[in-house]
Amino acid sequence: MDERVRSITWDGESLVLLDQTRLPGEVLLEEQRTVEQVRESIRMLKVRGAPAIGVAGAYGLVVAMREKGDLPRDLFLEELGRHATYLDSSRPTAVNLGWALRRVLRKAGESRAATGTELLQVIRTAAEEIHAEDIELCRRIGEVGLPLVTEGIGILTHCNAGRLATSEYGTATAPLYLAHERGIPFRVYSDESRPLLQGSRLTAWELQQAGIDVWTITDNMAASMMQEGLVQMVIVGTDRVAANGDVANKIGTLGVAILARYYEIPFYVACPSSTVDLATPRGADIVIEERDEEEVTHFGARRTAPEGIKVRNPAFDVTPHSLVTGIITDRGMIHEPYGENLRRVFGP
Ligand code: MRU
Repeated sequence: MDERVRSITWDGESLVLLDQTRLPGEVLLEEQRTVEQVRESIRMLKVRGAPAIGVAGAYGLVVAMREKGDLPRDLFLEELGRHATYLDSSRPTAVNLGWALRRVLRKAGESRAATGTELLQVIRTAAEEIHAEDIELCRRIGEVGLPLVTEGIGILTHCNAGRLATSEYGTATAPLYLAHERGIPFRVYSDESRPLLQGSRLTAWELQQAGIDVWTITDNMAASMMQEGLVQMVIVGTDRVAANGDVANKIGTLGVAILARYYEIPFYVACPSSTVDLATPRGADIVIEERDEEEVTHFGARRTAPEGIKVRNPAFDVTPHSLVTGIITDRGMIHEPYGENLRRVFGP
């Protein structure tokens, strides 16, 4: 696999992000020198996808504090907390960002480190653990989902829940990479995913690089592909799973789930345990990010809607758990009743 596909690189000191807004035309690696730059990279979707922004956020704290080793413990922790709040304000929907930031804060707070230098080492290790775990969790998602990928099937996915959205393997794509490695033939239909085209720019690109049989379609072609009998399964990622099993994912996912139900096609959601949020009771409680209207009024640099038009641009939607066939997680497949099963598997 091409090393450049890695979304996040960390060499123990410096954080390098692959600028995903430039793909597929340009592979641009950008070193992150300040916490402000990390926050902007998350906000601008240079790094995106729920698990990847969690990992980037955790390293963002190390970037923020790496010159602060001379602070005493209490001031170090105070400043660390401020930077965590600042980074968390970059995007609201994916729970992984806040989860990763809180985990680094907790490790620092609970440690016996007496000096800033020691605390810096604690947060560096915490961020590296989150990064390494993300790779491992995605690999396990792949193993749990692998039996679903049977010979010759067509699989539709929406947005990018691939390697680019995580540290490795992806979530929705993990079973696909594993199946491909084992020589199982299958086809993938990658929804374009308007407005920012994560499907055609990113999923199609990374699967093509891996040699997987991938076709990109515009979002409004999904129904027709299903009607033609080309799709036997849908797998998508998610930014947050509520305690009742409702899932938030890229805008348009809800429509795909409704179509899948109509055509009696199984609809699976894949995610690591860090995406399950038992503190949020229902999908309606998930904060949906509303982004800049230019993403809708323009296609690339060209305006495609009239000046002054009223615009909505929610970046995510919520699919009710009743439309979800199963949630593929690193801890196994979760089925109905979701409330009960999520609590049993992910509860304290
Ligand atoms: O706005 P994005 O590109 O960050 O949205 C990403 C998605 O919706 C993904 O499907 C989700 O984060 C899961 S990534 C494994």
